[in-house]
Amino acid sequence: MGVKYIPEPFRIKMVETIKMLSREEREQKIAEAKYNLFNLKSVDVYIDLLTDSGTNAMSEDQWAGVMRGDEAYAGGSSYLKLLENAQDVFGYKYIQPVHQGRAAEKVLFGALLSKGKYSISNMHFDTTRAHVELAGARALDCVVPEALDPNKRVPFKGNMDVEKLEALIKKYGPENIGIVIMTITNNSAGGQPVSLQNMKDTSGICKKYGIKFAIDAARYAENAYFIKQREKGCENKSIKEIVKEVFSYADMFTMSAKKDTIVNMGGLIGVKEDKEIFQEIKNRTISFEGFVTYGGLSGRDLEALAIGLYEGLDEDFLRYRIGQIEYLAGRLDDAGITYQAPAGGHGIFVDARAMFPHIPYYEFPAQALAVELYKESGIRTCDIGSYMLGNDPDTGEQLKADFEFTRLAIPRRVYTQAHIDLMADALIAIKERASGVKGYRIEWEPPVLRHFQARLKPIE
Ligand code: F0G
Repeated sequence: MGVKYIPEPFRIKMVETIKMLSREEREQKIAEAKYNLFNLKSVDVYIDLLTDSGTNAMSEDQWAGVMRGDEAYAGGSSYLKLLENAQDVFGYKYIQPVHQGRAAEKVLFGALLSKGKYSISNMHFDTTRAHVELAGARALDCVVPEALDPNKRVPFKGNMDVEKLEALIKKYGPENIGIVIMTITNNSAGGQPVSLQNMKDTSGICKKYGIKFAIDAARYAENAYFIKQREKGCENKSIKEIVKEVFSYADMFTMSAKKDTIVNMGGLIGVKEDKEIFQEIKNRTISFEGFVTYGGLSGRDLEALAIGLYEGLDEDFLRYRIGQIEYLAGRLDDAGITYQAPAGGHGIFVDARAMFPHIPYYEFPAQALAVELYKESGIRTCDIGSYMLGNDPDTGEQLKADFEFTRLAIPRRVYTQAHIDLMADALIAIKERASGVKGYRIEWEPPVLRHFQARLKPIE
């Protein structure tokens, strides 16, 4: 075992009790949940890896900030502090808080996209794709081909395929491309980073064709850490310098602040300098979210977010954070379990296609592995594969995803080395009995974002 666990750069001041149910109880609970892990009660889950979003542990400074939050409807001091900090970190003139990432998408995309338009991204996250489609437009993914091979260890597997991007722009016409979105890190490809060079190249193409370039910035700090580790010439830059440079290449960003800014709720929209689009954003925020100086958040949320913007950039924290994921990856390497390698920033994406070669995409192998992890050790994860991707909005047919990943998303500052070992042990136990695991079919599904609500049945 080559990878050492990096000791936590914090100690624990407050704890939350968790309990593991018996195997019999777990089997009953998951059947009652219709094999949809979103339907489980959190008290029935031992280790919750459903998401790293909003599940992070805030610091003593953030909790102290909660008590200082200014709850004024207009012009509150927590809002002003958030503006100042976000302008400092991202170097953008205009900042709009909203209640979470998908709210930022709803507000921004409605201003830029409509029927007949396209959004092109290295990869759209599921809510991002949903908001592109809800605005009447269509979403095209354009990730580098090496992202599609889980065993290919290259440093920036999240990158945009810039040649393909230019070809798509020419094919659909630059006037029909409402937006180009760079998701950093690339969540759906396994939390894989995007390089500074790729940001620069994508920005160049957008400028050439007069297309707006946005960042989906949920995991901007983890992405910057990878750039510092892996990109030539960046080893001596600070994380803050790298973040500023990354954002300098884009025109705007949407952000779910529930990830790298280590809060439980929040989102941001940033605009570098385009005053007109920002006016439109303010108008839409007031209709959908609330007045511009709170954007659907409490003053205490704004205060915690303002503080978290800096905590997320701390290099000791990021070294431990990414190190924890690399430790889990090391244990899977030893056991011959395939995952999207090298390990990404916010979790491990296990290749369920490799684990269950006998389960076809339309029987959802990654969902099957998620169910097994719960049955095995009370671990809750999610499918990032064909089950999540859903149906073609035009034909209604099941789409085949590029990957069938089961995502173990690791919340920030929450679990210890022993918990991580338990995750590895569970995966190893399932691998040993993999050929007996069966796929699933959908009994009922809603029209969009079905994985949150669908009801499933095992195929006998
Ligand atoms: N963009 C990315 C890249 C995301 O990962 C998410 C959320 C969003 C946008 C939407 O943000 O949840 O605050 O509305 N990702 C979570 C996840 C839910 O589990 O990966 P939100």
